[in-house]
Amino acid sequence: MDLAISLDFNNKYVPLHRQVYEELRKAILCGRLPAKHRVPSTRSLSQSLGISRTTVTISYEQLKSEGYIETLVGSGTFVCAQLPDDLLRSIPVEHVQKITRPQIQLSKYAHSLVEADVPGITEPLTTINFRYGRPAFDKFPMQIWHKLLSRHCSPVNSNWLDYSTDHKGYLPLRKAIVSYLSRSRAVKCDPDQVMILNGTQQALYLIMRLLIDTGDTMALEEPGYLSARRVFLSQGAKLLPINVDSEGLMVEELKQYTNESIKIVYVTPSHQFPTGSILSLPRRLELLAWTRQTGALIIEDDYDSEYRYGERPIPALQGLDESDSVLYVGTFSKVLFPSLRIGYLVLPKSLAPLFARAKWLNDRHLPLLEQYVLTDFIEEGHLERHIRKMRSHYDQCRQILVQALKEHFGERVKILGEKAGIHLMVKLQTPLSDEEIVQRAGNEWSGNASC
Ligand SMILES: Cc1ncc(COP(=O)(O)O)c(C=O)c1O
Repeated sequence: MDLAISLDFNNKYVPLHRQVYEELRKAILCGRLPAKHRVPSTRSLSQSLGISRTTVTISYEQLKSEGYIETLVGSGTFVCAQLPDDLLRSIPVEHVQKITRPQIQLSKYAHSLVEADVPGITEPLTTINFRYGRPAFDKFPMQIWHKLLSRHCSPVNSNWLDYSTDHKGYLPLRKAIVSYLSRSRAVKCDPDQVMILNGTQQALYLIMRLLIDTGDTMALEEPGYLSARRVFLSQGAKLLPINVDSEGLMVEELKQYTNESIKIVYVTPSHQFPTGSILSLPRRLELLAWTRQTGALIIEDDYDSEYRYGERPIPALQGLDESDSVLYVGTFSKVLFPSLRIGYLVLPKSLAPLFARAKWLNDRHLPLLEQYVLTDFIEEGHLERHIRKMRSHYDQCRQILVQALKEHFGERVKILGEKAGIHLMVKLQTPLSDEEIVQRAGNEWSGNASC
């Protein structure tokens, strides 16, 4: 019995026995070799293909072990009468083209994401990188981090390999964060209110999932943080943009929306993103008074408040709040490094258990090893030492940049938000569009000056 099989004798990557196996399997699955049909003997197939009998035997053994063919003693080898469902599911794509399946039905949430502009990963490689919000990686205390990693990642210490039973995050880390926040930001909380999360982004995501329904109204700064806006939109929130000026969010404007039932206001009071203004104390108190009256909640995104240059720190809104209205979000992305993916959310006490459940459902918990390392890093004083060092480094960079901008653009440049944080905003007096400016700056750097 002849069976047409094509083999590629030049293929260095797929051995012949695998090719024979694949060809026979395809022939069975697409019905060329129907159920109960005899398959050629190993001897005849090896002869007709001009390959060794051992090669064919290996392929047959594989097909037998997977239930495609069977040998009936004294009669020969046959295609099995019934192929198990899971084999049919593994039919190669080219053989299932004719099976039409109904279009996959997406959830409402998925529909909200179809148009979402999630940031891409393309970024031109340049010698000077002006991308905002990136810490200076070359100044990271790698040796200390490495030492702490080795301390925990050792044969005598393997308890971090197991699942964590603490859905809010490693308790010693939560305690370390509580005392750090109380010292540096006047945040008032106990460890039960703190959730360790995968950065600000996850905090915002969980807040949305648990507190916002489609059509609920939220207010946010204009201009503001796009990644927050993306999460809010994905949950179907109705967004009210509130302008910011040199004192931060214009609370007066917020108060004018008397016909709207605003559920949450998202703010970056320590260093408004992107303008850099700092929400003044009177405005903070006004905002808190407004939440007391309306029952709205505040998301306080305190993403880079550690860096202030010459200004006295203003206590976090959370610390000034007396009515459990603030959900305080912090991150280690700026003070340490963003790929660490550790941030925290300080919640009103009543909400903490619910968030812990949501976190577990979402991704169980964060890796324990990094939480152990970070705990020691904070408790042994490395974090605050690193912040002090970086504050002076960023201050120097900032002065150099401000000086260069003034030197080159003179009256045509307005610099905003340079008193805090790790970015500043520049307004240029020019008829050129943003894209043109970016392009010309690139040309300038590569030597094709056209400004
Ligand atoms: C306003 C603001 N919040 C938070 C973050 C940090 O987000 P994550 O903690 O998810 O890295 C950033 C990063 O650029 C930011 O600009």
